[in-house]
Amino acid sequence: MLSKKTIAVVGAGHIASALISGILRARLIAPGRIIASRRSEDALESLRRRWRIRAVTDNTKAVAGADIVILAVKPQVAKVVLAEIAPKVTPSQLVISLMAGITTGSISRMLRTSTPVVRAMPNTPAQVDAGATAIAAGEGASEKHLAWAESIFGAVGQVVRLPESAMDAVTGLSGTGPVYIFMLIEAMIDGGVKMGIPRTIAAKLAAQTVYGAAKLVIESGKHPAILKDEVTTPGGTAINAIHELESKGLRSVLIDAIVTATLRSQELSRLYAD
Ligand SMILES: NC(=O)c1ccc[n+]([C@@H]2O[C@H](COP(=O)([O-])OP(=O)(O)OC[C@H]3O[C@@H](n4cnc5c(N)ncnc54)[C@H](OP(=O)(O)O)[C@@H]3O)[C@@H](O)[C@H]2O)c1
Repeated sequence: MLSKKTIAVVGAGHIASALISGILRARLIAPGRIIASRRSEDALESLRRRWRIRAVTDNTKAVAGADIVILAVKPQVAKVVLAEIAPKVTPSQLVISLMAGITTGSISRMLRTSTPVVRAMPNTPAQVDAGATAIAAGEGASEKHLAWAESIFGAVGQVVRLPESAMDAVTGLSGTGPVYIFMLIEAMIDGGVKMGIPRTIAAKLAAQTVYGAAKLVIESGKHPAILKDEVTTPGGTAINAIHELESKGLRSVLIDAIVTATLRSQELSRLYAD
């Protein structure tokens, strides 16, 4: 679907690098069809060496003539970068923005064109092909454009489609979500250490337990509550631990974290819209 396209990646930092790596490993397009930009020449040279892609410091050179433009700069520099590339962006291109909190409407306004825009919210497990990405169509983005975006983010994990109004909630759930799980793993490691397990072994057991539990939820298709009940024997260890987690409010804490992160994302969106 994308093999004859060219992709410009503006702001080739962490998340963009994960994406480029996934696109190339999935052989969606040849390396020569990707052109990346960022300001650091040293970093660009390492991108060229690592993937044999083209890489430039000039954003306008990257964007000119590309079929798909992926915007992966920080939201704080969005205005400057969009103003810079606007003269080179045409309605026949597709813009895919990863920038948290910047709406497709704002991007279209800043680009001053009718170029279709798709907004995407990936997360860092994209680095290991286990990303969770939500995509949303802006005005003018068609089924074909969503399918292109799905193919790109599908190279680094799972992709879902949602209306753009859900993007702040996605930021609170899966965009920020890896942090909650890192903290959970860290706490489980400490629990193991407290009970006498060496730290390196506790770390391996804790991370593999989280990985295995997630894999079981995904692959069995069973509701997590069913899986939980299946291992909860009367009077056993699990039900005692569940009682402890419930009395300390584990579920409410996680729900509150997602609500708070969503509200903060909404707040930042309003800030960037100014
Ligand atoms: N990381 C995540 O989990 C995640 C998840 C979802 C969405 N996002 C979004 O993805 C975007 C990038 O995040 P990140 O974590 O990958 O940040 P990052 O590693 O800092 O990448 C941003 C890149 O933009 C480059 N840059 C800065 N100013 C530029 C300019 N004027 N022209 C061209 N490039 C410029 C920087 O490189 P130089 O300093 O060399 O220019 C840097 O490599 C953000 O908008 C974020 O909201 C990130």
